[in-house]
Amino acid sequence: MSDAKGNINRRSFLAKSAAAVAGGMALSRTALSYDNILGANDRISLGHIGVGHRGSELDWIAAQLKTSHKVEMTAVCDLWKVNREQSVSTNTKYYSRAPRSFQYLEDVLALKDVDAVLISTPEHSHSPILKMAVEAGKDAYVEKPMGNVLEEVKAARDATIQHNRIVQVGTQHRSEPYPRAAHDMVQTGMLGEISKIEIVWNYHGPRWRGREETKLVREADTDWRKWLLTKPYRPFDPQVYCEFRLYKEFSSGISDQWMSHGIDLVHWFMKDNFPRSVVAHGGIFAWKDGRENPDTFQAMLEYPKGFLVSYSTSFGNDAPGFTRYMGKNATLVNIGGEGSPRYQVVEEKGNHEVNANIDKDRAAKDVLLPGETKVPPMGIDDLTLEHMANWFECMRSRQQPHCTVQDGFAHSVACMMAAKAYWTGKKQYWDAKSETIVEQLIS
Ligand SMILES: NC(=O)c1ccc[n+]([C@@H]2O[C@H](COP(=O)([O-])OP(=O)(O)OC[C@H]3O[C@@H](n4cnc5c(N)ncnc54)[C@H](O)[C@@H]3O)[C@@H](O)[C@H]2O)c1
Repeated sequence: MSDAKGNINRRSFLAKSAAAVAGGMALSRTALSYDNILGANDRISLGHIGVGHRGSELDWIAAQLKTSHKVEMTAVCDLWKVNREQSVSTNTKYYSRAPRSFQYLEDVLALKDVDAVLISTPEHSHSPILKMAVEAGKDAYVEKPMGNVLEEVKAARDATIQHNRIVQVGTQHRSEPYPRAAHDMVQTGMLGEISKIEIVWNYHGPRWRGREETKLVREADTDWRKWLLTKPYRPFDPQVYCEFRLYKEFSSGISDQWMSHGIDLVHWFMKDNFPRSVVAHGGIFAWKDGRENPDTFQAMLEYPKGFLVSYSTSFGNDAPGFTRYMGKNATLVNIGGEGSPRYQVVEEKGNHEVNANIDKDRAAKDVLLPGETKVPPMGIDDLTLEHMANWFECMRSRQQPHCTVQDGFAHSVACMMAAKAYWTGKKQYWDAKSETIVEQLIS
């Protein structure tokens, strides 16, 4: 993502956020209960399952917090030798000693001294691995979406609750300061009744095709059957292994990858967690490169409180992204695509049919943090620290983190409904009583 106007550049923005996170921990530490399972002075021992692209980012994030939050990556696990060895090497640099290295996650989960695990495998394995982790008594940070098979996500949620584990689901924007400020502003009710939310996040290019690793990965260096996990056997395919986002058996693509972030924020801002119904459309219009999942996708989700969400992504054109919360008094605009911290409130005043220049009369106010006078950059990357820091703090306090398994379950349901609507061409309903996705609601 680019800094666009970039009044604060990304690096200094992230550095500021890192300092704030470390400072926040120093303060909150005094508030910790000393009856906790993990004492304030105990080091949190981490294991990491699945150390590919996102995994290496999470390794970096955890390492930035190693002193302020007293953590150490003591074990890493990846089926694929190349990524496993890379992660051992970078974590050795981060902590000045080598983590233990494992091919199989069962070996990490069996380690008594590991308090918690990070799970950043492909999304078809998030929920099954999360369930195994919490049953082994570990707290967990699991990447988004929490899962993409309804029964598996439910089972992971239920096991987390049953075993009383602290699980943070990886929709990190919930913990970032600007979305938090925008969230608090929405809670004041100043936007008035919100009836429509529009999310448009675009990208120009054959997204998720062309990963370099497809040329490197050999079946002999990994364990393909273990990678498939719950899926029926199919012959090894390096493209499926590395570009799983394009293949429908493993991912819904745009919905699992991007809509999970967008809809998760909507649920949190609106305090309405499950769509009542969803329709979706799209296709492979821009990149006919053998992908199964759409490169152009739009879902419409209706919520019980009475509002409609339109989520739209195109990979054939990079027209500017935005999110708009449209209220009767004002519009909250998030300027930029996924993760943009730039929010603005625009007064709703009159009608353009009466005054063609009405936009000029509509007061616009940037959402800024206390003490800030400059607007933040429009794009930041996925390296913010707050979400991981929040998880570490919750592990000590045993409070619930910012994105619980209930929230992860909810964003997964919305994404699964959108994917099902796309593939069946039929409107999908959420039956809250039976927690099932159905094509007809009986009531
Ligand atoms: N929160 C964010 O902003 C963000 C950003 C990027 C990716 N992600 C999420 O991260 C996940 C991983 O994406 P990626 O690009 O890092 O994929 P990747 O293919 O680069 O990495 C996945 C790694 O997991 C390993 N693996 C797979 N199954 C395993 C198993 N059973 N046991 C141990 N290792 C296993 C693979 O060998 C690979 O090294 C995706 O689900 C994606 O949604 C989140």
